[in-house]
Amino acid sequence: MHNDIQEVLYSEEVIQQKVRELGATLSREYEGRNPLVICVLKGAFIFMADLSKNITIPIELDFMAVSSYGNSTRSSGEVKIVKDLDVSVDGRDILIVEDIIDSGLTLSYLIDVLERRNALSVNVVALFDKPGRRTVDLNADYTGFTIPDAFVVGYGLDYAEKYRNLPYVGVLKPEVYTS
Ligand code: XMP
Ligand code: MG
Repeated sequence: MHNDIQEVLYSEEVIQQKVRELGATLSREYEGRNPLVICVLKGAFIFMADLSKNITIPIELDFMAVSSYGNSTRSSGEVKIVKDLDVSVDGRDILIVEDIIDSGLTLSYLIDVLERRNALSVNVVALFDKPGRRTVDLNADYTGFTIPDAFVVGYGLDYAEKYRNLPYVGVLKPEVYTS
């Protein structure tokens, strides 16, 4: 285990099992529809890679980057598109792949943008959900794990751009934030 990690909340095995289940569910739900699967960078990059390998129907992939927390652990409430999609969403079934839903601000903004661009449908799969921290009325259509209000890192999730490469998800030792 990484020296800065206090506790592992979701092991690599537990995450991989959940991702396989989500992939199977999505393969059934999107059968015959050729969805555009959108990864929200950077946090969702590992989830996107693993999930897409477990989707057994034809899909297309694209990537979007939005401004998020910077180096802090709280949302600024401001969302800005830093990298936009390469392809049109007009008339497409869209599946947004998110690492974690916290306040819900990022996703409600993204859903709004995609609907205004005439997407046929917009659904969300989030690996982690913190429903206790919602400030807007929004829920994922597919959720991996519902977690309490703790800042987590690993499996794509960062603190100050670190720990994204950990294959598990855990909480940091308090001294990591203060040092
Ligand atoms: P909102 O508040 O818009 O936030 O739902 C979603 C984005 O915030 C980041 N986030 C986290 N990142 N550990 C992280 O590394 C966390 O516990 C955490 N909670 C929220 C994340 O980028 C997500 O896309
Ligand atoms: Mg982030």
